[in-house]
Amino acid sequence: MDIINTKEMSRDEITGLLDRASEIEPSDALAGNVLALLFFEPSTRTRMSFDTAMKRLGGRTVDMGGVESSSVQKGETLADTVRVVEGYADAVVLRHPREGAARLASEFVDVPVINAGDGAGQHPTQTLLDLYTVRENVDAPLGDLRVGIMGDLKYGRTVHSLALALAKFGTQITFVSPPSLRVPENVRTELAREGVEFEEVETVDGVVGSLDVLYVTRIQKERFPDEKEYEKVAGEYSVTSETLDEARDSLVLMHPLPRVDEIAPEVDETEQARYFEQAHNGVPVRMAVLDKVLEGDA
Ligand code: NCD
Repeated sequence: MDIINTKEMSRDEITGLLDRASEIEPSDALAGNVLALLFFEPSTRTRMSFDTAMKRLGGRTVDMGGVESSSVQKGETLADTVRVVEGYADAVVLRHPREGAARLASEFVDVPVINAGDGAGQHPTQTLLDLYTVRENVDAPLGDLRVGIMGDLKYGRTVHSLALALAKFGTQITFVSPPSLRVPENVRTELAREGVEFEEVETVDGVVGSLDVLYVTRIQKERFPDEKEYEKVAGEYSVTSETLDEARDSLVLMHPLPRVDEIAPEVDETEQARYFEQAHNGVPVRMAVLDKVLEGDA
């Protein structure tokens, strides 16, 4: 089984993985298995938490290393790279700058492919750890919540995956972004198809008090075709202690990280800040994912 897009995951499948993640313990469930880490873009959390998760289940990892040190530098195609790596590993985790790369890779190999970010497309395992974090912090079903998603909604793949997953639970969504960075058409179409209620605003100030969760994202500078476009919006969307004056004490403030200046350091000390806990949740959630795709017995 591949994990490419949250759109293709059912509500039961998502809930099942989150339930597994909350119980999973270190074991040898995946002993003898090898996981390939293919990161064609920078990564800290995703790569290291997959690595950690695999090792906690007794498995091993092989890492392609950076693009500079691999054959990509010599002009190898993605299709060739994955066909070769299939012979070394039982599953592949792939991050690539091109949207659709994970799907493409999955068509060339028989081993499971896990999408760890395809350009401005999707990042499904990030969504699983995001939802896990919400569940750990809010004592109400996802369908009863209002979740604000703020920042770069156009290029942010974590946003696309999260919105499509929340849609399956009937969560109300408030999108907060400048007009130039609104959610793209394909995501809107999907939300409409799921019958989700969402609103779009340009600043968080008027809405923060109504939110159960605020999910802040980085402006995806590397995906802007024109640097000037980036400069127009850089720094406009940030959360400070003042922003939180209007927020509920129970607000769960999240960010997939890395942050640049979207959340002021002073906010780290507030009871709403949950982003480091969120990053830590990557390990149990990815343990559950790996156990599932590799059919372990954890
Ligand atoms: C995100 C990504 O790569 O999409 N990082 C992550 O995996 N936690 C978010 C980002 O880069 O802004």
